[in-house]
Amino acid sequence: MRATQPVRLRANGVDYTGEAEPRTTLADFLRRQCGLTGTHVGCEHGVCGTCTLLVDGAAVRSCLLLAVQADGCEVTTIEGLADNSDRANPVLGPVQQAFADAMSFQCGFCTPGIVMSTVAWLDARPEGSDAPTDHEIREFLAGTLCRCTGYTSIVEGVRLAAARYSASEASAAAP
Ligand code: FES
Ligand code: FES
Repeated sequence: MRATQPVRLRANGVDYTGEAEPRTTLADFLRRQCGLTGTHVGCEHGVCGTCTLLVDGAAVRSCLLLAVQADGCEVTTIEGLADNSDRANPVLGPVQQAFADAMSFQCGFCTPGIVMSTVAWLDARPEGSDAPTDHEIREFLAGTLCRCTGYTSIVEGVRLAAARYSASEASAAAP
């Protein structure tokens, strides 16, 4: 019996092929075989949200999803949010930039997961929604843990990102 199985997936627009044991998590596969170390692993049992990324557009805890389950899927990690087409002048994605502007991190370990969760949350909000209240933001953030406990600045980062999403929707809708 084979100890590993082939896994093929597309991450951030690049095709990757590797071998994974049936118990290898998607987080470990991406970090070890694809070199995508921006996805961090904290609790390893689905509680902290640090390992969150997008699989086929949906937020997923990559410590709970097996690599073999992601075979054939489209994955977006924190590395895929920025525009790196000009290597000398990379442009951060809107949520990344909002977190940078609001200084929404301390050590930064939890940041990739919180940014990816925020991207999924804002993408899922209906176009034209009212700005989320701080209560709504804190309720959404309840699924993510920051051990530096800097939640006030994280709430500010999400609020700023939400405002920029609304502004870009409004300008896209303008005649
Ligand atoms: S490492 Fe996946 S939820 Fe904590
Ligand atoms: S910024 Fe350090 S764990 Fe969140």
